[in-house]
Amino acid sequence: LNQDRWRPYFHYSPHYGFMNDPNGLVEYKGEYHLYYQCNPYAPIVGHVHWCHAVSRDLIRWEPLPIALFEYNNSMPFSGSCVVYNDSLVAIYTRSYDTGTQTQNVAISHDNGRTFAEYPGNPVIDIGSSSFRDPQVFYHIPTGEFKMAVALAGEHCIRFYGSADLIHWRKLSDFCKAGNQGINYECPNLVRLPTEGGGRKWVLFISINPGAPQGGSTTQYFVGDFDGTTFTPDDYATKPLDFGKDNYALQFYSNVDPPTAIAWLSNWQYCNETPTATDDSGWRGMMTLPRTFRLVPTADNGLILAQTPLLNHVQRAAVEHGDNSRRVLPKGNKPLEICLNVNLKRGSRVVLYLQSAFDEQLEWGYDANNGQLWVDRGKTKGFRQRFFTDKVSAAVIPESTTSIDLCAFYDRSCFELYASNGTRVCSSLVFFKLDPVLLQVEIVGEGDITNLTVNTLSL
Ligand code: FRU
Repeated sequence: LNQDRWRPYFHYSPHYGFMNDPNGLVEYKGEYHLYYQCNPYAPIVGHVHWCHAVSRDLIRWEPLPIALFEYNNSMPFSGSCVVYNDSLVAIYTRSYDTGTQTQNVAISHDNGRTFAEYPGNPVIDIGSSSFRDPQVFYHIPTGEFKMAVALAGEHCIRFYGSADLIHWRKLSDFCKAGNQGINYECPNLVRLPTEGGGRKWVLFISINPGAPQGGSTTQYFVGDFDGTTFTPDDYATKPLDFGKDNYALQFYSNVDPPTAIAWLSNWQYCNETPTATDDSGWRGMMTLPRTFRLVPTADNGLILAQTPLLNHVQRAAVEHGDNSRRVLPKGNKPLEICLNVNLKRGSRVVLYLQSAFDEQLEWGYDANNGQLWVDRGKTKGFRQRFFTDKVSAAVIPESTTSIDLCAFYDRSCFELYASNGTRVCSSLVFFKLDPVLLQVEIVGEGDITNLTVNTLSL
């Protein structure tokens, strides 16, 4: 099995072993750190460590040695990093073989390469076996650090405050909102810029299992945070993504504009996606780093808009063909496929990425009902019931007749940004053979005002 045919160029993936949640996202002395949950021994979940990579542009990543280790009685689960007294400090969960989960602190004196456990650990222990994923950030108005952490099985996000990252006092609980699933995990509370001015607080909560589209997913609530309590504008759940592969989103704790990375997979099949069966196997990738803002809508209040960070890549136009088809260069190159389209009511635009194996990835927009969709069900590199069962779909309530669709295909993943980044689908995709053709079809009537197909390289 030639697994490197599926290794993405622009999406971070581990050299070998298993990867899940991004952790400890922080910028320090010009380096963007990406720690992540990993199993360094095998491409399946287990033996959790914090593996590590750094980047100066959020695109080219340099892998570094393991930063936080499994001991014989416990593993470092998800958590975050902040800069404090000019050092990098990790605040993370230790999950013990006995079941207990506590919040721990570790300090780095070598630019995040290695960490020393704080001797007084744990810094929070409530005797729970369902208490994890602390996200810590500095809150300027109250002059202290805040932590959001999940009481996973109770479906609560608990907030704590601390002046020194060691002594924490409970502030409030935010419970039982939106889709609850089995577990709340990986909360993130951030202040996002609003189009039109100002900022609002947004609380992201990941849930697993029990996502509406199956398995794991991330939802968010827009509201206010007064330093103690998070109050949502309303309790309507809003999805971060309409695909199945965007989980455990985490923001850089000290980067503006707000920038985040998520795990581009789903607990329903992350241990089964194609890889080499020997020790060289790897599984897992991250989403493209994205910046986030809020935009007002008529029916839905403020909703998220996302922009992928691809400023540092080279683009080369794929010109062989016309507005209805482009012949792709050999070699399964990463692609950017963007178009603007004006449709007559009742018409739709459909795009197909096809290989010579009678397989295709399909996406499109239907101006009849405002439906956007991505369907990977007709690709043939990985057949698993949860992987191919559903068409990912979202609705634009105004069912606009003009839309922008911008897709990034990177060998075994696909990210679609539609309607100014307000609808995003992140999806793994496994072709049996390399895609060779892009087809663009208008069913009904409409004009493609701009079709851009580029290969991307570093
Ligand atoms: C989310 C999660 C976290 C936990 C980590 C363990 O994907 O289950 O709740 O800290 O993964 O690897």
